[in-house]
Amino acid sequence: MNTRSTPKTKKRILTGDTPTGKLHLGHYVGSLENRIELQHKFDTYIMLANLHAYANHYYEADRINNDGHNVVLDNLAVGLDPNVATIFLESGVPEILELYSFFMTMVKHSRVMMNPTVKDEVKYKKLDPSVGFINYPILQAADILAFNADLVPVGEDQSPVIEQTREIAKDFNKTFGKTFVIPEAKIGRVARLCGTDGKPKMSKSGGNSILLSDDEKTLKEKVMSIYTDPKRIHATDPGKVAGNPVFIYHDAFNPNKDEVADLKSRYKKGAVGDIEVKQKLFMALNNFLEPIREKRKYFESRPKETKEILVEGTKKARKTAQETIEIFRENSKFLGLLR
Ligand code: TRP
Repeated sequence: MNTRSTPKTKKRILTGDTPTGKLHLGHYVGSLENRIELQHKFDTYIMLANLHAYANHYYEADRINNDGHNVVLDNLAVGLDPNVATIFLESGVPEILELYSFFMTMVKHSRVMMNPTVKDEVKYKKLDPSVGFINYPILQAADILAFNADLVPVGEDQSPVIEQTREIAKDFNKTFGKTFVIPEAKIGRVARLCGTDGKPKMSKSGGNSILLSDDEKTLKEKVMSIYTDPKRIHATDPGKVAGNPVFIYHDAFNPNKDEVADLKSRYKKGAVGDIEVKQKLFMALNNFLEPIREKRKYFESRPKETKEILVEGTKKARKTAQETIEIFRENSKFLGLLR
């Protein structure tokens, strides 16, 4: 049994995005912000999780590739530095699939069916899910453990998936000796950002998101139509601030805390109209998005450079995963008959 673990100089981050649409404000506060902040401290791997997208839409390769391109742009636009962080394509690291197939033999069917993230998503999207979709936490465990990641920055809705990853790593280590690092989730500053329609989760497919790539006009339209306190008809009616989407966004994105406090107190008293609250939110969000739009333009106008980032990142990521998989193979004797 080989109990050496992959030599690492820095602790490692692995996280990723499923390319099923452009990234939005929920992704920003859930995971992107932590990636940007931690990229210099950790050896950081950002995965374009296209195999996860296939689990839903296996017949839509063109769309997955197109969304994937946008997700890479989104990550670069918010400030992931390709000279520091490794951005890579999941399906370009087939070692992940080897782990995936092994883990599927370890995890009980009943355990997968219990995963609250899977249950919620099936309910929310009204899916008749593919087997691949049901198993996506196992694929995600393979994503994470193939890199022996220490930390996984994700939104709160993903914590049951990280919990399941930890279980798999522990079970494996118990049976075969210490092989995998037990990863930890790093949850974002806003655990779960609501949608513009007030639904609990801003979602790519829900039509209730503000995209990081929205232009000024689109942003304005979306902000002006955000749900507020439904019981408040006139600007002079006292309104509810707690749980009100427009104030949730102010809290999350308006750096002018005095302005937010003033709006809240006037809203509660019925001394401010929705329009003013929304206009100020629009200003704050527009200031926040402007540098992101600029950076996106920079990479959009350099398609060769952007592709190179993904190609080189995938080569580097594969090498890293191969080191882990070698130890997995030795300890599990998965290739025993060939050795
Ligand atoms: N399932 C994650 C999501 O929907 C994306 C993802 C795929 C991921 N593989 C990952 C996140 C590995 C963290 C680590 O947001």
